[in-house]
Parts: sequence; C-alpha cells; structure tokens
Amino acid sequence: MPSFRKLPEKEKARMIQDRHLHSSSAPAGVFGSVMGELVEAGEIEIWKTGEVVSPVRAKIGLSSFVDEHGGMAAGHGKIILFGEHAVVYGSRAIASPIPLAVRARVLGEDDGVWLAFPRWGVERRMQKDSTRLTSFEAPAALILGELGLADRTMRIEVFSEIPRSMGLGGSAAVAVAIIRALDRHFEVGLSDDAVNALAYQCECIAHGTPSGIDNTVATFGQPLVYQKGASPSFQPLHLKQPIAMIVGMTGVEGSTAEMVARVREGRRRNRTFYDSVIQEIDSITVQALETLDSNDLVLIGELMNTNHGFLRRIGVSSRELEELIRIAHGHGAYGAKLTGGGGGGSMIALFPDGGNRVVEAMRDAGYQAMEVRIG
Ligand code: MEV
Repeated sequence: MPSFRKLPEKEKARMIQDRHLHSSSAPAGVFGSVMGELVEAGEIEIWKTGEVVSPVRAKIGLSSFVDEHGGMAAGHGKIILFGEHAVVYGSRAIASPIPLAVRARVLGEDDGVWLAFPRWGVERRMQKDSTRLTSFEAPAALILGELGLADRTMRIEVFSEIPRSMGLGGSAAVAVAIIRALDRHFEVGLSDDAVNALAYQCECIAHGTPSGIDNTVATFGQPLVYQKGASPSFQPLHLKQPIAMIVGMTGVEGSTAEMVARVREGRRRNRTFYDSVIQEIDSITVQALETLDSNDLVLIGELMNTNHGFLRRIGVSSRELEELIRIAHGHGAYGAKLTGGGGGGSMIALFPDGGNRVVEAMRDAGYQAMEVRIG
C-alpha cells in the first residue's frame, strides 16, 4: 500500500488538540470508501474510527462548527424534503441544508499533493497515475486538473461532520469544501456557480448520473427548489417560519449510485409505471411548495407520507428506514419519509413542536437521530 503516511508527532499533537475541540461534535464522515480503505490499510487505528461511529448529538447548531473552524471553506450537508429520485428525471425537488458541514483548508507543502483527514490522523499523497486513484482521491484530482493546479504542491485538510453514506450529501459537501479551499488559497476567483458546476462533475464520479441537487445545496447552503432540465435551475425557498424536523439515521450505508441505478433499471423494464410514479412525485412536490407557503404543517406531513409511499413503490426504502418511520409515526409525527438515495441512509420526520422523545426512542432502537430546523 504505497503513500499512506502516519503523521509526524507535531501533527499528531495538533490532531489531538483538534479532536479535543470536537469532542462534542457529530461524527466525521467522508465520501467514497475512504474509511474502509484506511482501516484495511492499517493506517487508521480503531480508537480513531470511534469518532466516526460515535453518536450524533441530538441538537447541533451550525455556529458551533463554524466557530471551531473559523475561516475555513465549507460545503453544507442536506436533506431532501420532497422529490428525490424523481428529480433525476427532470421533476422538481425541495431540499434544505442541515447544520452539518464539511470544512477544508489548503496549506503549503514542499513535495506533492497531500490529502489529509487530521481528525483521524491520516494523510495520503495523491497518486500521479490516474488509474490508481482511490474513490476519495479521484474527485480531488479532477478538481485540481480543472483548476489548473495539478502541478502545484499542497496539503489539503478535510474536516467532516457529515456521516458517510447516510443520504445527507456528504460527498457533495466534501467536493464543495475542497473547491472553495483551493479557490481561497490560490486566489482563483471562482463564482458560486463555478464552484457548483465543478462539484457537480465530482458528483458524477461519485454517483454516476446525479441530478445536481446535492452539490447545489452544498454550494449555496439555503433551502431551495431544484430542477435538472437542459440547464439545471434552482430557486431559493423562503419559509415563513422555520420547520422542525427529526433526521433519523439507519447506520446502514446507502449507495446513492446503486439506488439511482436501481430506479433507472426498473424504469427501463417498466417505463409506464415508473414514469407515472415520477409524475406523481412531481405533483406532490409542487403541492408541497404551495403548502409550505401557507405553513399548513398537517398537509405538509401528509404529503411527506404520500411521497414516501411512492418511494417505497420504486423499491428504495429499507427495513431500517421503515422501522424509523414507524417509530416517528408512533410518536405523533405529522409526516415521515426517507431522504436522499435510500436503501439505508436517513429519514426525516416532521414534528412541529420538536421531537426530543422520538430522538430518544430512535436511539433506544439502536439508531442515531438529531433535530434540525429548516428555513
Ligand atoms: C440524492 O441525494 C438524491 C437523488 O435524487 C439522486 C440525485 O438527485 O442525484 C436520489
């Protein structure tokens, strides 16, 4: 296993300090299979991975993370409120950032490009040979190439709060954070649109045929309505009042690429049925938009339930998601649905007056959960 390297003592000390700073933060996560690769390579010790699987605290504010990482470039995590999967086929979807982010910074380095995850005490020298790039190096290599920085030397440090493969937009957030960090360090002068377009290219490596919604929320960090179309478009969504949601995480990694491919294959075999489902989900999203405007939470909840029913019908729910949804309904959720690619990953539930008890119930059942406010 070439070019993994352990950190020198000075760096370890910084990492430990950094870990201390983050002892109350949500678990780290990163795109692709970096953790598996690092653990297999023996380059990350098990006590370090504890940070990755440790519980997400029930309530988390963006400000804590921003304060601790003041000044670093950020990419936002997200939930999809309505319209996942259908959005790949041109339907509208509604998404919102959550207070979990990925931050990155670029530091000077004499030799080569190093990609570092300081909270795990690991860094890796990027391969020059593009055929040997790992899943977490490939997007970084693409970004460096596109920005004309492939021949520069540097150390890119990535700090993630977004649990990996939980449908919360981690890969897009990592891409955006790295692009913004490079932009800052090398004074490239990228517009938000350019950041978004480049992050979309990274998403294509990670997910095959993404709609572009994850990178758009990761870039702009605000609730929005998104539509893919010939040229993707989005509109910021201004909610009259913030909406309280519970995000429940199954702990089962959901591969967005696999789920999107499954739906694509299903549609290839039964176009009429899948297109009717996509059409229904689009109508629900449009109705949800009007309903969000009038703040009718009961109807928003019903629309979430109906949206989830259609997602089940196209086979992207899972036993764990269904269990979390049952727990949410058992605690009086106005509505609940999976969010993101499904097949594992996360669900959301609408609890207008907060959901402390349901967070506990989800934890008692062996899952992680947190409360977020949308808008
Ligand atoms: C993933 O967060 C949302 C999906 O609709 C895929 C995509 O839009 O790219 C499942």
